[in-house]
Amino acid sequence: MMKQVTHFRTLVRAGLIAIVSALVVLAAPGVGQAEESGESEALDWSFNGPFGTFDRAQLQRGYKVYREVCSACHSMEFVSFRNLSEEGGPGFTPEQVKVIASEFEIEDGPNDDGDMFMRPGLLSDRFPAPFPNVQIARLANGGAFPPDLSVLAKARVGGPDYIYALLMGYEEAPAGVELAIGMSYNTVFPNHQIAMPEPIFEDAVEYDDETEPTLENYARDVTAFMMWTAEPKLEARHRMGFKVVLFLLIFAGLLYATKRKVWAAVH
Ligand code: HEC
Repeated sequence: MMKQVTHFRTLVRAGLIAIVSALVVLAAPGVGQAEESGESEALDWSFNGPFGTFDRAQLQRGYKVYREVCSACHSMEFVSFRNLSEEGGPGFTPEQVKVIASEFEIEDGPNDDGDMFMRPGLLSDRFPAPFPNVQIARLANGGAFPPDLSVLAKARVGGPDYIYALLMGYEEAPAGVELAIGMSYNTVFPNHQIAMPEPIFEDAVEYDDETEPTLENYARDVTAFMMWTAEPKLEARHRMGFKVVLFLLIFAGLLYATKRKVWAAVH
């Protein structure tokens, strides 16, 4: 009896040590990361969690910020105009998207004379790049290339939290830090020197709804929009995940009932 109790105690102790070590190991990289990449703290996004969905109005505002500010330098080559009215997206109507597309000039051709020509955008077109090639883009941006924004919100460590923190992270360079020509100081960008000048300011974009035209809201909305372009099927994936878990639960219940039935006669 004594022996069993001692065994049990040793087991509980070992279990506790295992749990505490696991917690320490799990917490440690998180702490290191936060120090390294500035403060891209975890924000509360509508698309977080297994039931998360996009906020349609927010995506529409985010599109407006992209259109009026970011699209001057950044392409979004994996997004077609028609995507803007597809299910799970910003929820523009096809008529609205036709108007949106027609406001862009798209290069087409060659025509019968062998010439390229410009025409208004159609639903099937992709968002045009602001610069004709990488070299010109670099020349216009002090040697740095503005990356394509289509999938950036998922490509960067920290995802949308990082993008938001980057847009909010512009500051005066602290004393003693010398910035290279054309560079800006940013608290979360690696090495803190970024070739993108602070892109948005309060009141830069006029919202169509009652949302306050603040820097925080611009940064949040355009980040949410970039999250949608990076994962347009997020809502469908969440719905499917829920169905799969539900199926597994029911299936487990059925298996258990079957097991009881099969073994009922054996005692
Ligand atoms: C004047 C041109 C310009 C505008 C306008 C602009 N950007 Fe940039 N952006 C750049 C350049 C250049 C870089 C590359 C910076 C570097 O590598 O140092 C960049 C880089 C980025 C990055 C990548 C940062 C990283 O981790 O590599 C993100 C995200 C970004 N921009 C988002 C935006 C958003 C969102 C907007 C609109 C609100 C915007 N930009 C507007 C020029 C611009």
